[in-house]
Amino acid sequence: MRKPLIAGNWKMNGTRANAGALARAIHDGAPFADVEVAVLPPFVHLPDVVAICEGGDVRVGAQNVADQASGAYTGEVSAAMLAEFGCRYALVGHSERRTHYGESDELVAKRFAAALAGGLVPILCVGETLAEREAGETESVIARQLAAVVEVAGDDAFADAVVAYEPVWAIGTGHTATPEQAQAVHAFVRQRVAQLDADHGERLRILYGGSMKAANAAALVAMEDVDGGLIGGASLVPDDFLSICRTAG
Ligand code: 13P
Repeated sequence: MRKPLIAGNWKMNGTRANAGALARAIHDGAPFADVEVAVLPPFVHLPDVVAICEGGDVRVGAQNVADQASGAYTGEVSAAMLAEFGCRYALVGHSERRTHYGESDELVAKRFAAALAGGLVPILCVGETLAEREAGETESVIARQLAAVVEVAGDDAFADAVVAYEPVWAIGTGHTATPEQAQAVHAFVRQRVAQLDADHGERLRILYGGSMKAANAAALVAMEDVDGGLIGGASLVPDDFLSICRTAG
């Protein structure tokens, strides 16, 4: 039985005071029954958020992680640094990183492997654009994004990792994938991972992301292969985020 995970990706939002207030509201919303809850603040807010969440029910993660362990990589933050600061998770390959910062499948795969090596659980984001979906390329895009990770991290890549299916056309648009659309892609992801290792496929948590909110969360997480959500906009509003967490539990 997979325990659902609801993770809030705060993206590049908020002041230090906002981040603290948001973290406290979510921490105070615990305990959460039968669901794991995580927040992913901007790097600079991590120490405050970790301090607030320490000893509680809410896990903390980062929105990206360096592809290297240490050294002359200006502007990057390593997995070991994040782990030392109390992070459990790191997003890799969010479509905003791929699109706005030109992160290739190969770079994303290296970040994924570095996260594992540094003691973090990577949350690999995959997903197709609207043009790719309309061209019938959804599965080939996802297969390519997964294969790049296996190429670098090996056949056991998904033994202790999370995948988030985030159709690019659903992110921040209000156009959520239907539960059936999400389920079809999630089942495809699980089947690809299960081809490498049946047990890893069975255990893998696959989150849905893209305009997920309190109103549509129940129908999405009710699908067999939807094991939680990666929430953007709604994760910045404590009541909305807590409501999604309770729905998923
Ligand atoms: P929204 O929930 O704002 O659509 O963002 C989804 C997302 O990108 C989470 O990583």
